[in-house]
Amino acid sequence: MMFAARHPGRVRRLILFAPANPFCDLGKQLIHFYQTRFGVWFARRIPFLPRMLKATALSRMYGDPSRVSSDALDGYTQGLHIPGTVDHVLHFEGDRNSSLRMVRGIKNRFGGADAFFCNSGAEAIEAALKWARKATGHTEFVALEGSFHGRTLGALSVTGQPAKRTAFEPLLPGAVFATPETLAEHVGPETAAILLEPVQGEGGVHPLSAETLAEARALADRHGAVLVFDEVQTGVGRCGSFFAWERLGVKPDALTLAKGLANGLPIGALLVGHDAPTAFEPGDHASTFGGNPVTCAAACAVVDTIDEDLLAHVRALSDRFAAALPNTRGLGLLLAVEVDGPVAPIVDAALARGLVIGTAGPTTLRLTPPLTLSTGEADQAISLLTEVLA
Ligand SMILES: Cc1ncc(COP(=O)(O)O)c(C=O)c1O
Repeated sequence: MMFAARHPGRVRRLILFAPANPFCDLGKQLIHFYQTRFGVWFARRIPFLPRMLKATALSRMYGDPSRVSSDALDGYTQGLHIPGTVDHVLHFEGDRNSSLRMVRGIKNRFGGADAFFCNSGAEAIEAALKWARKATGHTEFVALEGSFHGRTLGALSVTGQPAKRTAFEPLLPGAVFATPETLAEHVGPETAAILLEPVQGEGGVHPLSAETLAEARALADRHGAVLVFDEVQTGVGRCGSFFAWERLGVKPDALTLAKGLANGLPIGALLVGHDAPTAFEPGDHASTFGGNPVTCAAACAVVDTIDEDLLAHVRALSDRFAAALPNTRGLGLLLAVEVDGPVAPIVDAALARGLVIGTAGPTTLRLTPPLTLSTGEADQAISLLTEVLA
């Protein structure tokens, strides 16, 4: 490997016989990427990597592949570490590993937090459930009817959609479901966590009111429970602030992120605010690939990219869509348009005109464009949508 670093011209042949494991340096695992004829492998210099990253999903959420790719490249070439053990993966110390830049970035955004990195939103929810039980000593979870928190057994257990749950029951005991109006009836001394999406995404794009969130905060405090926001869909700028809670005025004890955090590469995160109990100790939780340098480098770039200008742009586009289209609801660029009949023909008609739109229920169109959509593109989309809705 060292020879390959000094003689990049010969890497291609040499690397075919090199071990697949990253080598260790001072007891830490370092990754250096090299190219082989089978693709990108561990090496110190990787001039071809941006092309590879562009070919993956990096432009999906924000449409800025060059920026993300080159930042990711910086990350690789600085020799980041693979977190292979539990205390590395947990990142609760933060200062010892490859995710440092991103951890710092996210911690700062949250206002002081510890972070655990995994590979998906559902895994982040699993981590949150375990953390909540250990942090409180309580066993129950209160979630909302219509909520969606993922498809692993734990995450499914707190998902308030019978159609997604029934075939897999019995699920985790201790999950109860409330409506925003009946929260107080369901939270009690056994509640470990109140788990809320600030805007219910899969459930139909239903924003929770600031009053509901404030009530949840008060109930959690009164009963010694923790308040966890699932920001897998609402976070990372989607709602016009880095975290949706910032626009809603209620800060959770912990929150989960995923989806756009690494711009299409697999990542999930649990952030636990510094005012909340840490609870996790080495050995409690881990993920082999959680916090790996590739996704963390991409996430660093994303966190750096989402500045106040971009967030203001998201809010402005949101207002533009809401002003031009009938029956809209949502927050930022997580928007729904409620239509009179079934959505399928509208989706098909839009697609025939080159516009891709999602759905969130039989009569609900879901609009989640890239955060970097230009004003001109938004106007184009609006006029196409107006046409197909007429
Ligand atoms: C609010 C919310 N939580 C959790 C998840 C699960 O995320 P993943 O699909 O990455 O496991 C989703 C996925 O859509 C989601 O919208």
